[in-house]
Amino acid sequence: MKNITLDISKVFDVVGRNEIYSQQNEIGKHYKTLLQKTGKGNDFLGWVNLPSSVNPKLIKDIETSAKKIRDIAEVVIVIGIGGSYLGARAVIDALSNPFSAMDNKRKNPYIIYAGNNLSEDYHTELLELLDKKDYAVIVISKSGTTTEPAIAFRLIKNHIEEKYGKEKAKDRIIAVTDKTKGALKKLSINEGYTTYDIPDDVGGRFSVLTPVGLLPIAIAGIDIKKLVAGASSAEKDLCETDDIDNNPAVLYAITRNLLYQKGKHIEILTNFQPHLQYFTEWWKQLYGESEGKENKGIFPAGVNFTADLHSMGQYIQEGLRNIFETVISIEQPKKKLFIPYDKENLDELNFLAGKGIQEVNKMAELGTMIAHVDGNVPNIKITIPLLNEESLGALIYFFEFACGLSGYMLGVNPFDQPGVEAYKKNMFALLDKPGFEEQSKIIKTRLE
Ligand code: PA5
Repeated sequence: MKNITLDISKVFDVVGRNEIYSQQNEIGKHYKTLLQKTGKGNDFLGWVNLPSSVNPKLIKDIETSAKKIRDIAEVVIVIGIGGSYLGARAVIDALSNPFSAMDNKRKNPYIIYAGNNLSEDYHTELLELLDKKDYAVIVISKSGTTTEPAIAFRLIKNHIEEKYGKEKAKDRIIAVTDKTKGALKKLSINEGYTTYDIPDDVGGRFSVLTPVGLLPIAIAGIDIKKLVAGASSAEKDLCETDDIDNNPAVLYAITRNLLYQKGKHIEILTNFQPHLQYFTEWWKQLYGESEGKENKGIFPAGVNFTADLHSMGQYIQEGLRNIFETVISIEQPKKKLFIPYDKENLDELNFLAGKGIQEVNKMAELGTMIAHVDGNVPNIKITIPLLNEESLGALIYFFEFACGLSGYMLGVNPFDQPGVEAYKKNMFALLDKPGFEEQSKIIKTRLE
């Protein structure tokens, strides 16, 4: 498969090659169910053929809207939570210079995220910044009723209308939401905002290749055509065959499920590239919300190496042996940077002089893999050639496809998230929201 190589040879101490191949028939059934859309959650499978069916007109339209926003705003607030922001943030952080906030000559607007928390301090500080900046807002919510983004948008709508006047503010607001229903859709029609639709059959955590992700990503100056092309090429490869040897998503889904059955209940997604921190957050939501059901599922965790080798490394090496690691390995840096020679050599690093930092990072990666495998932490390695739009698009689709298969192997519906409602019900009851009187009584009695 182009852009992605999977190596599972470092799990063989725990899961044998034969055990993996014995799953071919089983996975074949789930593969068919996924592609023929006959399984659980089949009304949320729009993402399967999404990359190859993204309308070029939509891409053009998004690029035009993105340019308009880029021309008028130095800061863009992306309001959304969960699947309505993590995909965009994963791609933007992966492909942008993290220091651009401090660069007065930067070409692209600086993206700030809101609507993903209920911190009063965060919102106060954000509004203080917005007093001083030329900005625009992208508000994203599929249901259009989620509390966190709705509160953030209420605050920012007031601010932007006060700052620019109600009419001019409209040119600075774009909503991405359901085609027909929800409070955000209604508000957008009433106010006359530009809107983009989220397809009915694509759930939040699978929506990065819809306007949910594509609009903010385009505003950040990233080539969305290439991102979609990378995903589309992965779709072609992964939808072609269920053969374990020729479909890395099939192999990944089987391997992680067998590790789970052997008591490896935690999967740690590992990177050696700080740009991938939010890619891990996106992956955590994808797998956690898809599989954590019916009292089962691998717990998806994440670490950022080498930083976390100095914090979590001890646990991974010698703590409870219920974990396995999946490493995202990047073959080449975007640009080479060599370690300089130093005459004094007080740090005794001259043995590294002339080597690229990537070479040192690669040896840290290899050394860590050997140490952790020796410590009984099986290791799955996913390699991409370079951190760019194409490989990231492929990686997104690869993980989505494997997630669907993996959830079916586990026996759950990977495309719903009923458990997310529990906290909301209690919060609304505690806040005396009309309609929650019964729950309010129950909860208040419990708290007495
Ligand atoms: O994957 C999901 O469905 C969720 O994480 C949602 O994306 C998240 O709860 C936000 O929902 P909404 O877009 O309706 O505001």
